[in-house]
Amino acid sequence: MESSENRNALNPASTKLRLPTTYAATATATAPTGLKEISDSQSNARAQMSSIPTKRAANDSAVAPPDAKRKTLVERAGEPIQPKSQLPAPTPTSAFLTGTISGASIVQLANARNANKTTATALPRASSATGHRPTYSSTNPSSFTKSLGPSSRPPVTGLRQPSFNQPTNRSRSISKPRPATSMSSHGPSRDVSVAPTQPAPTQPPNGIDVDERLNEVDAEWKVMKEAFSISLQDKKAMETAVQMAKNQVDTLEAERQKLNERNELLQKEMDALRQQFQQLTLTLERQKMDHEYQLQNKSREHEHEVQELQRKLKQESERLQRINREEKDAFERQCRADLEGEKAKAAKEVRDLRLKLGAEQQDINKSLLEKERELRQLQSQLDDLRSELSQEQKNKRALQEQINEMATTNGKLEARNQGLRAQIDFLESDSKQQSDSFAQIEARLREALEIAENAKQKLIKEETERRILFNKYQELKGNIRVMCRVRPALGKSEGNEAKIMFPDAKTSSAQIEVTGLEEKSSFGNINRKVLPFEFDRVFAPSVHNEEIFDEISQLVQSALDGYNVCIFCYGQTGSGKTYTMSSPDGMIPRATHMIYDTITKLREKSWTYTMEGSFVEVYNEELNDLLDGSNNSKKKLEIRHDDVRKQTTVLNCKTVALDSADKVEMMLKQAQNNRSVAATKANERSSRSHSVFILKLVGENSVTNERCEGTLNLVDLAGSERLKHSQAEGERMKETQSINKSLACLGDVIEALGRGSSHVPYRNSKLTHLLQYSLGGNSKTLMFVMVSPLEAHLKETITSLRFATKVHNTHIGTAKSTKKAIKDRSSES
Ligand SMILES: Nc1ncnc2c1ncn2[C@@H]1O[C@H](COP(=O)(O)OP(=O)(O)O)[C@@H](O)[C@H]1O
Ligand SMILES: [Mg+2]
Repeated sequence: MESSENRNALNPASTKLRLPTTYAATATATAPTGLKEISDSQSNARAQMSSIPTKRAANDSAVAPPDAKRKTLVERAGEPIQPKSQLPAPTPTSAFLTGTISGASIVQLANARNANKTTATALPRASSATGHRPTYSSTNPSSFTKSLGPSSRPPVTGLRQPSFNQPTNRSRSISKPRPATSMSSHGPSRDVSVAPTQPAPTQPPNGIDVDERLNEVDAEWKVMKEAFSISLQDKKAMETAVQMAKNQVDTLEAERQKLNERNELLQKEMDALRQQFQQLTLTLERQKMDHEYQLQNKSREHEHEVQELQRKLKQESERLQRINREEKDAFERQCRADLEGEKAKAAKEVRDLRLKLGAEQQDINKSLLEKERELRQLQSQLDDLRSELSQEQKNKRALQEQINEMATTNGKLEARNQGLRAQIDFLESDSKQQSDSFAQIEARLREALEIAENAKQKLIKEETERRILFNKYQELKGNIRVMCRVRPALGKSEGNEAKIMFPDAKTSSAQIEVTGLEEKSSFGNINRKVLPFEFDRVFAPSVHNEEIFDEISQLVQSALDGYNVCIFCYGQTGSGKTYTMSSPDGMIPRATHMIYDTITKLREKSWTYTMEGSFVEVYNEELNDLLDGSNNSKKKLEIRHDDVRKQTTVLNCKTVALDSADKVEMMLKQAQNNRSVAATKANERSSRSHSVFILKLVGENSVTNERCEGTLNLVDLAGSERLKHSQAEGERMKETQSINKSLACLGDVIEALGRGSSHVPYRNSKLTHLLQYSLGGNSKTLMFVMVSPLEAHLKETITSLRFATKVHNTHIGTAKSTKKAIKDRSSES
């Protein structure tokens, strides 16, 4: 960086410009700070302080006439001094003086010192100091400055001033016409202007005294002389000043030289630095290259290392894999050996078990043979009965034909009778002949009536026998039957379907196979077992209610024949129990329709039936009447058993006489409404209570005076889904307990019946208590196990199927008791 000093040193213009100031400064104190800028006022101040005699000092000496220390111009000239006021107006001498003073050297010097530094400051000061003729100084402020230059020479004031200034003005106005001269102020007589260069004596006297005039001229001359000597002094002073200025210039020159040298030095230094910089840049470049080279080397090395590490890693992983494989092989060998051992053990166990099983199988085969024998006997009995039945049916047909024949014979006889009567009338005359023929006709009529009566008796006997045979057939089928129904999936929104198969769908439709839940084996494999189940009948999802009803219509017939029948629907909520029982084409409406049809037909056979229906609900071990909407007047329902008639009645329960088919639908609707009133969440309530539709059928035969009383119970059980006590509280807890209890109790009752146990725990729950006479004895029970097809319900499905299998297994036991029952019934009949 260059200093301002340097810059100034390098700039000759600035040096030139500041020369006067520098001069003033050097003149006063020769301060070395010549390159600093100094203001005008500063410059003036220094000029005042300066010891060098300045123009001002000279002026002051000239201007201050009252100063006693200083001699006046007149004194110096050795001549009397005229008072200032009497000083003549400027004369041509002043012009001369000006010409003398304004010597070329001074002007040149002044010009060299820059005329810019004007006397503007000096002039007013001078005028104020003198106090004389301010008009002159104000009108010609720069007349002297123009000839001498600024500050170096202050204008001559006081007495001298008019003489200096006026001629100057005049010299300027030589060629111009002069309107008024300064002289005119001295007197009105002086109206002739004087040429500036011409001496006064050449002017015509114009009436003035010559001596006086000479004196004046002398005085002027003296003044001039004085002025001249002052000028000389000034000149000397000026020369000294010039000399000093020269010295100053030399000093400055020397300084400039020095500065130039310094500048050069600095230039050199700068060059050196520049070189150094270039060198450094080069070095840097080289270092950068070196660095890059090193970097590349390093990265190559690094890559090499990485490759080496990767190679090592690969080797290591291969080694580990090898070890792992070896270990695995060893483990596998070990496992295989273990497995072999286990297998051998298991095979031995299997052999043992097979032996045991063989022995057991022999036993079973023996008993099976016995059973088969029994079955064959039963079969033969059945065949006998069937042949008997067909024989009877044939007989019936023959009798029917006989009856028909008799009827025709009767008609014929009637006709003949009429003919005979006519003959009687005709033969009235011959009475003996007439009475003979009359007796003959009467005998024949009696014969015909006898035959007709016999035929009717035979027909009624046949209906009774059909009933017995039908019942025996039903009993052989088993008094407790279990059927399974799988409902169809209702759409994709229900979720995935479970895998359910029907292996014998095309033949006997008795099997169902469910692919069970995922199980983890001891080896950690996940598999799903296929669980087979077998029932009396299995209905696939495609089966409609119509086909289901075909299967149960025989039981409805049994109810009409005077037996107690119970049809249950068991299964989890949503499996289709209500749909099967109470939907518009469900079992309840279909059963009632069938009963109506049958009743109508039986009228021909002298049977008249009455049918009564009631609908109750078992909820929390309490009975509710679903046909009685008036909640307030609800009386407690009570179960009453008639042990003799084997009939059950529910006290305070509304029964509806179903004398037309529409009444059943009305009844179902009413029950549905009452259920909705009973609970806000009807569906929830319906799934948590058992509903029992009780149909009582009483038939009487006017001819035979026979009477039969049967009950058909259609039960929609509460949802069988497993309910956890831990999750239920209060009312819910009670509800859960009662559902679990009643379902378990139903299972117990069926099991006890199957075992032929002397004690059947009917009273353990309200439901079994209500159905007591419809579950044991000669009653017929059908349980539908309803199954949902969804994967989500699989667990409950399997539970339901297992429960149903238990019930189904009691079936064989029931068959045993059936024999007894047949015996019982045969002994009864
Ligand atoms: N066999 C079927 N065919 C068509 N839809 C059925 C069948 N079984 C049940 N559903 C329907 O499945 C749903 C649940 O049946 P629902 O009878 O109310 O079950 P549950 O009484 O066992 O709780 C109902 O929407 C019903 O209409
Ligand atoms: Mg339901």
